[in-house]
Amino acid sequence: MTVNLPDNAAARWQLQGIALRRGQTQVFSDLHLGLHEARIGLIGHNGAGKTSLLRLLAGLEQPQQGQLLWQGQVHASAPSRRVGLMFQNPDDQIIFPTVQEELQLSWQSAHGGSRKQALAGVLEFLQQRGLAHWAQRAMGSLSQGQRQWVCWLAMQVAQPQVLLLDEPYASLDLPGQLRLAAEIAASTQQIIVSTHVLDYVCDFERVLWLEQGCVRMDGPGAQVCAAYEAWVHSQVRPGGGGWAHEGAQHG
Ligand SMILES: Nc1ncnc2c1ncn2[C@@H]1O[C@H](COP(=O)(O)OP(=O)(O)O)[C@@H](O)[C@H]1O
Ligand SMILES: [Mg+2]
Repeated sequence: MTVNLPDNAAARWQLQGIALRRGQTQVFSDLHLGLHEARIGLIGHNGAGKTSLLRLLAGLEQPQQGQLLWQGQVHASAPSRRVGLMFQNPDDQIIFPTVQEELQLSWQSAHGGSRKQALAGVLEFLQQRGLAHWAQRAMGSLSQGQRQWVCWLAMQVAQPQVLLLDEPYASLDLPGQLRLAAEIAASTQQIIVSTHVLDYVCDFERVLWLEQGCVRMDGPGAQVCAAYEAWVHSQVRPGGGGWAHEGAQHG
């Protein structure tokens, strides 16, 4: 799947010699990457650095060394209007007790205006999607997958130029996954998706396979996903006395 970004929305990231430490963990040591494509998948084992990379792009992590450039400019802090991060766990993202209030915040941060205008915009938005009945729903009455969908809706309300999605399929049911994949395919923004569900990124023009904070493979989704899958199958021997991939060296 090759998607052309409109020129005025073209997102151009450059990571130059990034070192990132989180707590006691040196996640990245000297990471160099250009991220120009409209659709980029991030795959790799747990702990590989997918979330850390997304948090870095979102401005939630500051590197100890190196520079992160956005369209040639140093990207020092989170420019929330341009870049939206959908957290893996919706409960890390959701602030308000109802759907309407949560979306209202996104609306106002993106479009400004009064609370009343934001509410009208949100209600119209929900109506267009056949979800008007969600407006007053309490977050606590929604399943985790439904709360994840609220986070996706919040992004759609705000329309940032770059969408960073951290394992967005993890708690969605199958219809929700298919709907999200279709909406991603139809979006005009740059979208970077981390996932363990390879089917949803194997048709992306670019996928990065991360391993222990390094890029192990970088290329068209079909090739990278096939290589990752083959590697996992060659390494993991359930019932064979443990997980052979843990700490495994590759050559
Ligand atoms: N909040 C944190 N504090 C300290 N270390 C962390 C934190 N979050 C993640 N890490 C470590 O950073 C490394 C990369 O993690 P992460 O980016 O979450 O990987 P992934 O998303 O690929 O599973 C791992 O070694 C993980 O243990
Ligand atoms: Mg993660």
